[in-house]
Amino acid sequence: MMTRMLAPTLPPPSTREALKRTALEAAQAAGAILLEHARRGVRIEHKDTVNLVTDADRRAEQVIVDRISKDHPAHQILAEEGGMQAGHDSPFKWVIDPLDGTTNFAHGFPAYCVSIGLEYQGRPLLGVVLDPTRDELFVAEAGAGAFLNGVPLQVSSTPLLNGALLVTGFAYDIRESEKNNLDHFARFALRAQGIRRTGTAALDLCYVAAGRFDGFWELKLHPWDTAAGALMVVEAGGKVTDFNGGAFSIYGQEIVASNGRMHDEMVTVLQFT
Ligand code: IPD
Ligand code: CA
Ligand code: CA
Repeated sequence: MMTRMLAPTLPPPSTREALKRTALEAAQAAGAILLEHARRGVRIEHKDTVNLVTDADRRAEQVIVDRISKDHPAHQILAEEGGMQAGHDSPFKWVIDPLDGTTNFAHGFPAYCVSIGLEYQGRPLLGVVLDPTRDELFVAEAGAGAFLNGVPLQVSSTPLLNGALLVTGFAYDIRESEKNNLDHFARFALRAQGIRRTGTAALDLCYVAAGRFDGFWELKLHPWDTAAGALMVVEAGGKVTDFNGGAFSIYGQEIVASNGRMHDEMVTVLQFT
């Protein structure tokens, strides 16, 4: 289970401030690139039938990676389009999705974000998610809380699944894989107040942290989808686990995130097969 706690060791405050500055400025630079591309038109390529990538994904990622490499040249970097940067041995690892919500972006649907997570000694230290279309900046720091544009975030207090607004998503292999989440979706649809599919997992998690959604689940996400958002939920007082209620890892296959109060109910629905 991922619950809020102080990491056993944290870098000193001055280092944490410098890291946060890098993350915030990199996210703002990438967000500006996304808006610029959204205004002037997007060049789309297909990774496969349904998985797209645009020139904006690549440019935004380059700006983030360049900034981190300049400020912290020894750090490890894992980024969606470029993968793992080889050759670095550091306790710090940046995990980057330059554009979460590419399908939305390519269609001109304004729900997407930049997501930057930072691990220290294998534990989440910092999460920054920027929605450039609404100018909403979500920031979480291990042990120090989660904030939206500087205002502290708190998960919802909805007690039961029956009254919950949930959100989920579907992996790009939905047409080929039997583990396509449609079974879970059908079960939750009959038990929750409502379900949304926004197309941006990182923002979904931030919205759970903000109390806009009560719970989120998804299968087969990648580390860059959840690195920042999972910390956001925990720091806003919520709970993040796998589908069995066990420890969550950004490198795993399952995530369920909630306000904590109806977490066990969600896990029970997910264990049904
Ligand atoms: C996708 C989004 C979507 C989720 C997919 C992700 P991308 O990321 O987060 O909400 O359902 O599984 O791959 O491709 O837009 O960065
Ligand atoms: Ca993503
Ligand atoms: Ca992406």
